[in-house]
Amino acid sequence: MPHPVRQRILITGASSGLGEGMARRFARMGRDLALAARRTDRLEALRDELLAAHPGIRVVTAALDVDDAAAVEKVVPELAGKLGGIDRFVANAGIGKGAPVGTGSAWANRATLFTNVLGTHAQCEAAVELFRARGSGHLVVVSSVASIRGMRGTRTAYGASKAALNALAERIRSDLLGTGIRVTTVLPGFIATDINVGRRGPFTVDLGTGVDALTAAIEREPVRAYVPEWPWRPVSALLRVLPLPVVRRLA
Ligand SMILES: NC(=O)c1ccc[n+]([C@@H]2O[C@H](COP(=O)([O-])OP(=O)(O)OC[C@H]3O[C@@H](n4cnc5c(N)ncnc54)[C@H](OP(=O)(O)O)[C@@H]3O)[C@@H](O)[C@H]2O)c1
Repeated sequence: MPHPVRQRILITGASSGLGEGMARRFARMGRDLALAARRTDRLEALRDELLAAHPGIRVVTAALDVDDAAAVEKVVPELAGKLGGIDRFVANAGIGKGAPVGTGSAWANRATLFTNVLGTHAQCEAAVELFRARGSGHLVVVSSVASIRGMRGTRTAYGASKAALNALAERIRSDLLGTGIRVTTVLPGFIATDINVGRRGPFTVDLGTGVDALTAAIEREPVRAYVPEWPWRPVSALLRVLPLPVVRRLA
């Protein structure tokens, strides 16, 4: 069944990288935007830029730390309400700190698991509650190709956090099958942003290429999308079956 145009889009982690890039692409498509992150100075500068470039759209912003579940529960409906509701929620906020387990950096691994798993869970709760009330909407969970198999070192906790998101998104999808609410899991490959400075993996693409592929994938609303599709769909299939000594070299 063709899906409706998702006119009002809430994006978390919109203050940099993929979130900021998606905001620019969706604004160019004439969509209304609700943008959230902790760095509000950057959100406000982005809002001003987008409103100047696309005078017909609406852009609203809010400070949000996704680690604070109570704040997510409060801010998401408030922000959505400023647009009269939302049609799509992109749970994009995330961090990529980390070190091999047992090397004295438990705090970094814990922070990554906390923000990526519990922060995204809090966002899903708030978004799906809004969508359930209307009987429709599109939830997008930003995972990673690092979720697929044993990437190590700086990606140990990160990959595990994103694997948890794949599982969470699938179970939310299962809860919602047969309703008007769609759930998409996107698995970006390596796209040059602040999250991976100094530790970019193979097949890294520039931000523009990555964001174009990401927004196009989200617009199609599949169950799961690899971004960019080439080479990450076949590479992901390979990762699933290759022996761990080979897989770990990709980290
Ligand atoms: N770039 C890649 O290669 C790649 C690959 C696969 C998946 N991803 C995923 O894509 C998403 C975006 O990452 P990116 O590459 O665009 O990195 P980025 O430039 O570092 O952006 C991360 C965004 O998340 C926000 N964020 C982090 N912690 C937050 C918190 N506690 N509360 C609210 N917002 C928070 C940041 O905003 P504030 O600091 O202003 O709060 C920032 O806007 C992440 O989920 C990441 O795991 C990226």
